[in-house]
Amino acid sequence: MLLHQSTWQEVEAYLERSKGIIIPIGSTEQHGPNGLLGTDALCPEIIAHEASKASGLLVAPTFNVGIAQHHMAFAGTITLRPSTMLAAMQDWIDSLVRHGFERLYFLNGHGGNVATIQAAFAESYSDWSLSGESCPHRLKGRNWWELPGIMQICRDTFPVGDGSHATASEVAVTYYGYPDSIKDVKMTPKIAPDGDFADAADYRATFPDGRIGSDPSQATPEKGEAITLAARDALIAEATAFFNSDD
Ligand code: NI
Repeated sequence: MLLHQSTWQEVEAYLERSKGIIIPIGSTEQHGPNGLLGTDALCPEIIAHEASKASGLLVAPTFNVGIAQHHMAFAGTITLRPSTMLAAMQDWIDSLVRHGFERLYFLNGHGGNVATIQAAFAESYSDWSLSGESCPHRLKGRNWWELPGIMQICRDTFPVGDGSHATASEVAVTYYGYPDSIKDVKMTPKIAPDGDFADAADYRATFPDGRIGSDPSQATPEKGEAITLAARDALIAEATAFFNSDD
């Protein structure tokens, strides 16, 4: 069940049987020569939508622009400042809580969002902590590749050159979701360099085609399907346990 493809009456009825909702959260940023700009938003969205189809869990619209300042030297990237993202997440959380949701599960697709997501959770709890009242809602964040068992599947599928940005795994998941958008590109060098970065100019100088440590030309829709369906099952198990938890 997708929130944005439901009526208010359907959401009201859902709230009578569950107080839980999954929110895919990601980024719109360059993903190297064969990765889609939406990769970090599309991966959690594809996995969450598969989970919803299989289980009936409710999925919110995707929060699809995040912290991508370091990718701004590549065309098409859109970024939020951390302060903007904090404010926007607060309003999403407050809106859902106002309707009665008490378990909000953010399935994240972008490592650069992690610190800000955690800060948004602390911000949300702070109002309650400072007032001395008990907070009725709980917030959980999970990177999709850290769902139980998934990292191992990614390593087994791509033992060399999975990398850390524009990874073979994430590109494969988007190729499963959007087979019409597959790009056939030769990688030069085959495996991208590894290293650190600061701002956008520094990133582009260090990683000229946008990849870090990866060879995403290994990505296929079949490999993406295996990763996606395993992540779907892990997400259903984890989100269901979270939605049913009392603490
Ligand atoms: Ni990514």
